[in-house]
Amino acid sequence: MGKTIVITGANSGIGLALTKVLTQKGNHVVALCRDNPNNKALIENLSKNNKAFGLGKVDFIGINLNNLHSVRQAAHQVINLYQTVDVVICNAGVRDTSYLVTQQKFEQQFQVNYLSQFLLVHLLMPSLTNSAGAKVIFNTSISAEKATINQLDKWMATAVIKESAYDGLLSYRESKFTQMAMSKHMAELFPNILFASVHPGVVNTNLLNRNYGEWFKIASFPFVALAMAIGLVKSAKKATETFVHLIEEPTFESGTYWFNKQQRLPNSILNEKDYLKQIYEQSKKWTGLS
Ligand SMILES: NC(=O)c1ccc[n+]([C@@H]2O[C@H](COP(=O)([O-])OP(=O)(O)OC[C@H]3O[C@@H](n4cnc5c(N)ncnc54)[C@H](OP(=O)(O)O)[C@@H]3O)[C@@H](O)[C@H]2O)c1
Repeated sequence: MGKTIVITGANSGIGLALTKVLTQKGNHVVALCRDNPNNKALIENLSKNNKAFGLGKVDFIGINLNNLHSVRQAAHQVINLYQTVDVVICNAGVRDTSYLVTQQKFEQQFQVNYLSQFLLVHLLMPSLTNSAGAKVIFNTSISAEKATINQLDKWMATAVIKESAYDGLLSYRESKFTQMAMSKHMAELFPNILFASVHPGVVNTNLLNRNYGEWFKIASFPFVALAMAIGLVKSAKKATETFVHLIEEPTFESGTYWFNKQQRLPNSILNEKDYLKQIYEQSKKWTGLS
């Protein structure tokens, strides 16, 4: 029987490709996307098309990861509608954006990529724990392997960084490291759920075009085409393979980090258990979970 799979950012890039691939395999996807007419129409069309071809269901639920209140509302809807959730894929993300702060005054990449989805996973626990083989998978980035921060005060400073000190790529890297760290820490706290983080590869999606604009898309097209031809850049569909592998594997070592369907050595800071615990406790405070 198909699984019920919650995917954030299911309207674009890897999230959309995952939604298509997983429903083609008969799973039911709950698409958590920004609540706007384009995203709604896209998911509704996919849902109609899937129905016509006897494929898995796709449902739309609005979420804005820039706002913890919206995360709470979306999670509330999910647990009310779906008694059991088998898999949560924390996929939505932004990279190297111009400086922006969220509704709760966190730096945008920190909250969208990490904090909001940390909250989401916790709020979905009532439905996740009803699944016999629950899994939580974070879409992370290889850049996290190079993260350097290993002190709570410095980590907290990145979350509320001032514009004058902001470095978009550094914030991206630390947000992705934190996802990976919490995947490892939560694996210990929730032994009945399997956690993993996945680097999808360098993937031809809208991620970079969103920041650098249409001119970047046009100018980079020949290079992207060449890089895809020689396998340096993946299509979004190809990038789904490790996620699908982990969803379909009966089991794997919880808290591990993956690339190209293989386990990969993570950043050694992940071995600093006390630091990970401090991040976890602070994240609970910031999200109102404690
Ligand atoms: N592409 C790569 O090479 C690459 C490499 C490593 C990791 N990744 C990771 O892969 C994930 C997916 O990215 P992608 O490459 O598929 O890029 P993408 O096409 O830009 O997709 C990003 C998704 O995140 C959603 N999102 C962004 N901000 C949001 C918010 N505030 N609230 C709700 N949803 C929000 C977007 O929704 P809207 O369309 O509504 O904005 C979109 O659905 C990201 O976490 C990224 O860091 C990508």
